[in-house]
Amino acid sequence: MSKIVPFVDLKAQHASISAEVNAAFARVSSDADFILGADVRSFEEEFATYCETQHAVGLDSGMSALELGMRAMGIGPGDEVITPAGSFIASSSAISFTGATPVWVDSDPRTYNIDPELIEAAITTRTKAIMAVHLYGRPAHMDAVLEIAERHALPVIEDACQSHGARHGHRRTGSIGTFGAFSFYPSKNLGAYGDAGAIVTNDRELAEKVRMMRNYGQRAKYQHAYLAWNRRLDSVQAAILRIKLRHLDEWNVARRRVASLYDELLAGSGVVLPEPAAHGAEHVYHLYVIQTGERDRVQGELAALGIGSGIHYPIPIHLQEAYRDRGFGRGSFPVAEAAASRVLSLPMYPELGEDSVRRVAEAVRASVSASAQA
Ligand SMILES: Cc1ncc(COP(=O)(O)O)c(C=O)c1O
Repeated sequence: MSKIVPFVDLKAQHASISAEVNAAFARVSSDADFILGADVRSFEEEFATYCETQHAVGLDSGMSALELGMRAMGIGPGDEVITPAGSFIASSSAISFTGATPVWVDSDPRTYNIDPELIEAAITTRTKAIMAVHLYGRPAHMDAVLEIAERHALPVIEDACQSHGARHGHRRTGSIGTFGAFSFYPSKNLGAYGDAGAIVTNDRELAEKVRMMRNYGQRAKYQHAYLAWNRRLDSVQAAILRIKLRHLDEWNVARRRVASLYDELLAGSGVVLPEPAAHGAEHVYHLYVIQTGERDRVQGELAALGIGSGIHYPIPIHLQEAYRDRGFGRGSFPVAEAAASRVLSLPMYPELGEDSVRRVAEAVRASVSASAQA
C-alpha cells in the first residue's frame, strides 16, 4: 500500500515547532497568565505590524471577528450587507447575528470570489457595507470592489479568514477595508491550537469598541458600559500564534511552491485549475481547488488510494437549510451553485512533499482520463 497523503497534516507542522510551543505552554502555565495576558497584548501588536494596520484585537474566533467588527460599525436590524453566496456560512451568519440581512451576490466563475460586476445591482437604500471574502486565499478583486463602494459611499469589510499574509498590491488582505476579520482555526495558514480569531483595523474607535465587546462591555474592571459578550482570545493561543506568525511568510511560500507544482503536473489534464492571482495580488493557497464534472467519483477514487481531499463548499449559503426562510431556490446564484457541485480541494499544507504532490496529481490525472475514455 503506498503512502497516505492527508488533506492537511497539522502534526507535521507541530513537529517543526514543538520545542517552542512546549516552552510557550510552560511559560503561560507557570505565569498563570491565562486571560488577556501579556501574550495577547504582544500578539495583537505583532499581528497588527504584520498586517500593516494600527490595531489588532484578539478574539475567540473568526465568526466573532466578523460579527463584533460589524456591530462596532453600528450594523444591525434593518440593515443589509452585501456578501458572496459562495463562501463558508460564517461570512453570512455573522451578518445575520448582528440583526442585519446578508444580501447575496454570485461569484466570479474563474476566481470564486464575489463578482464585482454584480455588486451594484444588489445595493439598496438599506445597504450598510460590502463584504469581500478572499476565498481559498486568493484576494478578491479589491480595486473594483473599492471603486463601487466609493461611488456609493459604502464601507468595505474583508473576511480574511482564509487569506493570512496574502497581498493585494502593496497591502495585506485585512488591512484594506474598514476592518479585516481573521480566523485562526487550526488548519488556517496561521492556525491556533484551538479556536481563535482577530480583527485588524486602522480605526482606533472601532478597535476600542471591539475590545470592550469581547470583554462584557467593560471599560474598567467591573464597570460595564453596555451588555456584551465573552469573546476573548486565550493567552495560550496567543502565545502559540506568536510563534507561528514568525513562520507564516515562509509557510505561504511553501504553499505557493506546492500550488505551482500542482499547476504544472495537472496542466492539460482536463480539470479546471485555480486562477492565479491577478491585479498585483498574491494568492496564499489556503486551499488548492480544482474543478471537475466528475467530482464525487474522482474524490472517491482518491480516497481509495489513501489521498485526502475536501469540498469547499458542497452547498452555497443561499441553499443552506439555515436560510430556507429567505426563499432562494436553485438558479438564484448559478455560478456558486455550479461550483458547489464541481469543486475539489486537493491536499495542501506547507510541509507537503514533492513526492506526495506528484502522487496526488498522478491519481487525479488517471481518474479524469479514465472517465474521458468511458
Ligand atoms: C471564509 C470564512 N469566514 C469565516 C470563518 C469563521 O471562522 P471561525 O471558524 O474561526 O469562526 C471561516 C472559518 O472557517 C471562513 O473560512
